[in-house]
Amino acid sequence: MWKKVYEWLDERAGLTDLYKNLLDRPEPKGTWWNTLGSASLFLFILQGVTGIFLLVYYTPSPDHAYDSINYIMNGVAFGWLIRGIHHWGATLMIVVVFIHMLRVFITASFKYPRELTWLVGIGLFILTLGMGFTGYLLPWDQQSYWATTVGTQIAGSVPFIGDFILKALRGGPDLSALTLQRFFAAHVWMLPAALAGLIGVHLYLIIKHGESHFPSKED
Ligand code: HEM
Repeated sequence: MWKKVYEWLDERAGLTDLYKNLLDRPEPKGTWWNTLGSASLFLFILQGVTGIFLLVYYTPSPDHAYDSINYIMNGVAFGWLIRGIHHWGATLMIVVVFIHMLRVFITASFKYPRELTWLVGIGLFILTLGMGFTGYLLPWDQQSYWATTVGTQIAGSVPFIGDFILKALRGGPDLSALTLQRFFAAHVWMLPAALAGLIGVHLYLIIKHGESHFPSKED
């Protein structure tokens, strides 16, 4: 019965072709260092899943943000666990993506024909940092409020366009409800959407070029 269902779907959606092109490739010659890209991808998905659960209770307004987090921690079944995973997952993702980038740099895997994979990677790194920066404000406690005050001030010190950047980030000259709304929109929609798109391009390029490896004697 399942075979028939599969054949029906395969004929219409080309599942076997998709499998062959995407997954049925020779196993790359690699070491544990080559698993860091997949680890980054896993952490991105983990952050997405736990983030969606947190969204069920989190409220992005200055009056309720702190209390909603408090409720997640103390009132919601396993809320502390989901928030804990999201919190530590964020730190881990930044560390893992950074070490992945370092590995690519040390093995010189950014050279021809993988320059574009590297450039897309730079975008991924900046977006990952952006996720950390925007997520940090969401609890709306003293620590996050003042850290973001300083962070946006630093961004505001860029020559010529600093004032524009500061106001664009804060939604005005000071941190306010508008800042929280903006950071929330960036954290749950803009940056994840951009990350997902760039990860798609990154993975396409990796499939296209295959994994790099050090040349052997035969090469
Ligand atoms: C969300 C972040 C990222 C994800 C999900 C991701 C995912 C991956 C995956 C799955 C691979 C193949 C396995 C591997 O070599 O580890 C890979 C390879 C690669 N990544 Fe990333 N990556 C990310 C960030 C970056 C960054 C920040 C850079 C550099 C600036 C980068 C540059 C590359 C390059 C050049 C390769 C090809 C390596 C080779 O062929 O040896 N990636 N990435």
